[in-house]
Amino acid sequence: MNIGILGTGMVGQAIGGKLSELGHNVTIGTRDVAGTLAKTERTPMGMPPYSAWQKEHPNVLLATFADAAAFGELLFNCTSGMVSLEVLKLAGEKNLGSKILVDVSNPLDVSKGIPPSLSVCNTDSLGELIQRTFPALKVVKALNTTNATVMVNPRSVANGDHSLFICGNDVEAKRAVKDLLASFGWNLDHVLDLGDITNARGTEMILPLWVRLYGLFQSPMFQFKIVR
Ligand SMILES: NC(=O)c1ccc[n+]([C@@H]2O[C@H](COP(=O)([O-])OP(=O)(O)OC[C@H]3O[C@@H](n4cnc5c(N)ncnc54)[C@H](OP(=O)(O)O)[C@@H]3O)[C@@H](O)[C@H]2O)c1
Repeated sequence: MNIGILGTGMVGQAIGGKLSELGHNVTIGTRDVAGTLAKTERTPMGMPPYSAWQKEHPNVLLATFADAAAFGELLFNCTSGMVSLEVLKLAGEKNLGSKILVDVSNPLDVSKGIPPSLSVCNTDSLGELIQRTFPALKVVKALNTTNATVMVNPRSVANGDHSLFICGNDVEAKRAVKDLLASFGWNLDHVLDLGDITNARGTEMILPLWVRLYGLFQSPMFQFKIVR
């Protein structure tokens, strides 16, 4: 399948790399292709520049947000939640069309310091904002409570015995996303479908706890496990 990934950060790289490894054609979107490839310094999070990753993944193409969105039959939003709507506008409503958009983003606002707060919560969510702004898109919120490494290698924590949440309005779109998750190695018995996209309020509001657990463990290699 042709898949467009919006976002060049660690999530875009992890998902893009995995999809390419699985045989999909992947194009990653950025604001400025030449500028992104020209960066040689490490990111503020200490990651190597995108160009270093690109060299190891020659089959993955880099394009503008608009071209990556046009390329993908299915799309991933892997951009900073504070700018996701802006990025989707750059991608263009025509290129987004009625495609499936897997929304991995979180509305983390660091403007008042660390730990971050949520720029939208309680009675709304970023997933819903995206769905309302682009009503034809089939938004499926998924993977946002999981570190990038674990997203594409679920067995890297507790041998895969942990939970993942998804939600979205379109049942067929959620089925297609579950198929992709299974191909990443997720046990679908552990994937909890919470219902429509308003449930993104719940999965995004886990993040304040997630960032505190990250502080406690000094590692992002942990997962939530729901038991009954
Ligand atoms: N890191 C994780 O393990 C993890 C886990 C779960 C969920 N998430 C969520 O996944 C999303 C991606 O996280 P990430 O750490 O991979 O990347 P990130 O640093 O949050 O976002 C990188 C992307 O945001 C774009 N961007 C930044 N500022 C912009 C602006 N002003 N206008 C337009 N685009 C802008 C960048 O564009 P350029 O390419 O042009 O620079 C880049 O493609 C976030 O919402 C995060 O909360 C992350």
